[in-house]
Parts: sequence; structure tokens; C-alpha cells
Amino acid sequence: MLDIHNLAFAYNAGSPDEIVALHDVTLQIAPGELVAIIGHNGSGKSTLAKILCAILSPTGGSFRVDGIPATAANEWEIRRRVGMVFQRPDDQLIANTVIDDVAFGPENLGLPRSEIEKRVRESLAALGMADRAYAQVAELSGGEKQRVAIASVLAMRPNYLILDEPTTMVAPTVARQVLRLAHDVRDRFGVAVLHITHFMYEVVGFDRVVVMGSGRVLMHGSPRAIFARADELHAAGLALPQVTELGRRLYARGVDLPPVVLSAEELRAALSQFELRHAPAEIQPAPEPDPTPDPQPELLLQARDINFTYMAGTPLAEVALRGANCDLYAGETVALLGGTQAGKSTLIEFLPGCAGRNPASYAGKGKTWAQQTPISAGCDAKLGSCSSNRKHNFSKILSARMCRSRRASRICRRPNHGRLSRHA
Ligand SMILES: Nc1ncnc2c1ncn2[C@@H]1O[C@H](COP(=O)(O)OP(=O)(O)OP(=O)(O)O)[C@@H](O)[C@H]1O
Ligand SMILES: [Mg+2]
Repeated sequence: MLDIHNLAFAYNAGSPDEIVALHDVTLQIAPGELVAIIGHNGSGKSTLAKILCAILSPTGGSFRVDGIPATAANEWEIRRRVGMVFQRPDDQLIANTVIDDVAFGPENLGLPRSEIEKRVRESLAALGMADRAYAQVAELSGGEKQRVAIASVLAMRPNYLILDEPTTMVAPTVARQVLRLAHDVRDRFGVAVLHITHFMYEVVGFDRVVVMGSGRVLMHGSPRAIFARADELHAAGLALPQVTELGRRLYARGVDLPPVVLSAEELRAALSQFELRHAPAEIQPAPEPDPTPDPQPELLLQARDINFTYMAGTPLAEVALRGANCDLYAGETVALLGGTQAGKSTLIEFLPGCAGRNPASYAGKGKTWAQQTPISAGCDAKLGSCSSNRKHNFSKILSARMCRSRRASRICRRPNHGRLSRHA
């Protein structure tokens, strides 16, 4: 049992910069329970997770793991029993190869060789990564890295596994696999899984949902019981899953449905008793599209036949882009879609030239890198990008600031441009 009593935590406690992140959290998690923890940004989910696996020490209250009090003396025992997988797997993968990463934890527990090998084999098999055991971690996709990170924690045989937003960095198909994994590892290893998420639709298959807000546990209960409290969820900045919201609105209009539906299948089954009131012929056809073409917007950026290979010329070469084309027009919003390893991030990195690569030198034989404006050195100032990796964003902010200060110094050197220098 994970037994949490009146837990409190403040960052920079006692200083003028103190930020109280948790107040009075009381919660019990049973062995083998599947619990989803949901809450708005800054509600304290990650802070709670870090306390439970002894990365942070609480500033108030206490907790016990399987009866063991969480004290400084028991820190390593708590860490062994409560494993955590961070949102960005890169933050916790430390070895070069998959097998070394998964073996790292059990090796540090001082286990016999045969036991280490058994755990590594079982963990990789459970995560569907057995055939990637000797792969380089650097060449794995985000979803694969996530699996290795989970396998590495599982190899420590924790009783409680905390997954901190494991689905935000991966494609929807991979996210569904990760969610299934939470169930699989519980069934296979008997571990309790605490799945932290922002997505309400992800909590449906869990035994219990804990809703956090402003550092407190606002409510907890079965998904059906939680979804029945839609107004309180809205007040906490959370929305019901679409299908549950649809069912709720139909129910409010007097349709004979359960007040809470959890899935599309449940809604379909409940609605199948009704006959269609309108025959298909009565449905109005969609209006014809307007035949006058829109005026052609200005072409801002055109990239043609982009090829890029990571670690080109080495045995680890990995082709990321093959003849990729991209046009961007003024005022357009463009969605770039693709599964993991489709090359989306690599393409985005090329557009502002922010990775400092010379695309021409990577173009394949017979391929050219065509550019209109503004793919050129220093174009960061015109083309901003926001990476899924916050560390990359930080370096971009720095380079943008340096770019701005360079521009400012040029302006300042000219006389009578005070107004412009203030802008800079
Ligand atoms: N290292 C830190 N130093 C100071 N304050 C922090 C730190 N980490 C988090 N906080 C603050 O603590 C509060 C809780 O943050 P926490 O990261 O636990 O929330 P969260 O629910 O995990 O948010 P998110 O959904 O964005 O991941 C927030 O006010 C946050 O700004
Ligand atoms: Mg968090």
C-alpha cells in the first residue's frame, strides 16, 4: 500500500521565492491498482510523483510504502519500490545500447548475473523490445525510447510504477500502445501503475482517477463517478472526453441514456435502441463549394528535395528525409502529420536552418536544395520554431536574443536612430 498522509511540498521553502506545490495530499494506492492522476498544468502531479519516488523530500506530512516510512534512512528502499518514468525518456536513458540501459538498474542492485539477465530478458519482452536489445539508444524513436525507459524501471521490479505523461511526446498510435502497456505490466508483474496525464479520454480504462488542482487532490473515484462531476471538472480546467460530453448533452435533452457513457461503443449500444427519425433523403446536401478561386497567397518559403541522413557515412547512418518538399504561404496554418520517425522534427529543424546544418552538403546525388526566402543563415529571426523538447527551445531563445542584440548594435551605431534602437 502507498499510504500518503497530509503531504505538503514547497519549492525554495522558507525563501522569498517559495512556491507551494502541494497542500495536504492524503491518498492510498493499493498494490496492483491502476490509477490515473489528472490535473491542469502546475496542479502538482509531477511534484507528487517525485516525492513518492524519493527524488524530493516532503516539507510536510508523511507517506509509507508497503509499511516502510519514507525517511532519509529508507530513501533507497523507497526508490527500489517506487519506479518513475519521466515525460522525456531522454532524461533517464543513460547507456548507449538498449540492453545496457535495462541492465543498469539490476546491476546497481548487486544482483547475480543470471538474475540480471532474466530481468532484462523479461522486461524487454514485456515491452515488445526484445529484438532491439542491441540497438543504440540514440537511434530509437520517441515511442521506442519510452518503452526502453519503462523496461529499465521494470527491471528493478518496483511495486509501484509512476508514468509521468508518457503519451505526450509520441504519436497517437504509440500513445495507445503505451496505455495498453500500463495494463499489461500490471497484469504481468502485479505492479500498481500511476499514470499521470492531461488527457481525460486516457483515464477511462483505469480502476481509479485522482483529480488534482492547485496542489490538492480535488476528488478521486472510478472514471464513471468522476465523469459524473462534469461541473467540478470544468471548474478545475478539465473537459470530459468528447463521447462522454455528447452523451451528457443528449441525456440533458431527455434522451434515454445512462447519465455517463465512457466509450463510443457504450454510446452506440445505448443509441441503437432508437430508430432514425429522419430518413436519409431528408438530410440536406452540403452546399456546393464557391467556384471563385481564392487569390493566390504569397509564397513565403519553398523547400525542394530535401535529403538528410543522421550520422551519414558511418555504419549508424539513419536516413531521415528522402526528397521532402514543403511550401508555406502567407497567413497559412499547416499541420504536419506523421507517425514516429516519419521525419517531422528533422524537416522542421531544416526550415529555419536552426540546426546549423548546410542542407546542400546533405543533399543526395542528383538532388538539389531549392530555396526562395528565407532559408538562409540568420533566418531564425524570421522563422521561429517551438520544439517538443524544451531544452531545444531554450537554446533557440538564446540564439534569438543574441540575434536581436546583434541587430541592436548595428542600429545603435547609426546616428539619429534612437527610435529604432528602442524597438530593438
Ligand atoms: N523546480 C521547480 N522550482 C520551482 N517551482 C517549481 C518547480 N517545479 C515545479 N514548480 C512549481 O510547482 C507547481 C507544481 O508543478 P508540477 O510540475 O508539479 O505540476 P504538474 O501538475 O506536473 O504540471 P504539468 O501538467 O505542467 O506537468 C507549479 O506551480 C510549478 O510552477
Ligand atoms: Mg508535470
